[in-house]
Amino acid sequence: LAARTRFFDDQVIAAVANGAGQVVVVGAGYDDRALRFRSPGVRYFELDHPATQADKARRLRSMGVSAAEMVLTPIDFRYDAVGPVLAGCGHDPATRSLFVVEGVLVYLDQGTVLRLLAGLAGRASAHSRLAASLATQRPRGSMVLTGGANARPGTGRNELWRTVLPADAYLGLVERAGWEVGSAVDPAQLDPAVVPGGSLFITAYPARAQPARSRP
Ligand SMILES: C[S@@+](CC[C@H](N)C(=O)[O-])C[C@H]1O[C@@H](n2cnc3c(N)ncnc32)[C@H](O)[C@@H]1O
Repeated sequence: LAARTRFFDDQVIAAVANGAGQVVVVGAGYDDRALRFRSPGVRYFELDHPATQADKARRLRSMGVSAAEMVLTPIDFRYDAVGPVLAGCGHDPATRSLFVVEGVLVYLDQGTVLRLLAGLAGRASAHSRLAASLATQRPRGSMVLTGGANARPGTGRNELWRTVLPADAYLGLVERAGWEVGSAVDPAQLDPAVVPGGSLFITAYPARAQPARSRP
């Protein structure tokens, strides 16, 4: 989690420094980057379940945080198309965006992951970026990994892990959704305490805007 937080913090800091006017936090939960990295001229959109957002809005109000700091947009990725939802909450597809997809895809089935990432690609202007964490299979295979994870109290009991794929297959899925993968980092490269192979942190570009791909 420490490596993951640093990675996504760095993505937001870099996007804001490079002129992104919008940060879309997908499956935001209690992400606080809209507050920690607020910057004049940058709008934050947060997408999550209505119930999570209602609770977050209540907590923010009780902390005296202005509702203007971020646009909380309710959505269920399983049933709602992200493109129209973003259009409806004021996201501008012509403005450079960073799409932050941290710790959420694993809870969605593969079809939903594909539709969601494709919907985000459809809202991405040329210099927009995607930053996402992907749950990947270690060599023993997803059944073992997923079964073990779901058996642990506090992880799978409430939210099942639904998409855990071999790294290459996952990167292929991201590309089928309309993104060119620019970088893919195993968190073990960022923190020696992490066991390698279980996830990838990626950055990607809208495919139509990207020249040659360089995947590490
Ligand atoms: C583990 S949390 C990650 C939150 C945050 N991105 C982070 O890394 O701290 C997963 C989030 O995805 C949201 N989520 C899961 N399935 C969803 C769905 N079908 N539609 C909308 N949000 C969903 C949950 O409500 C939760 O806030």
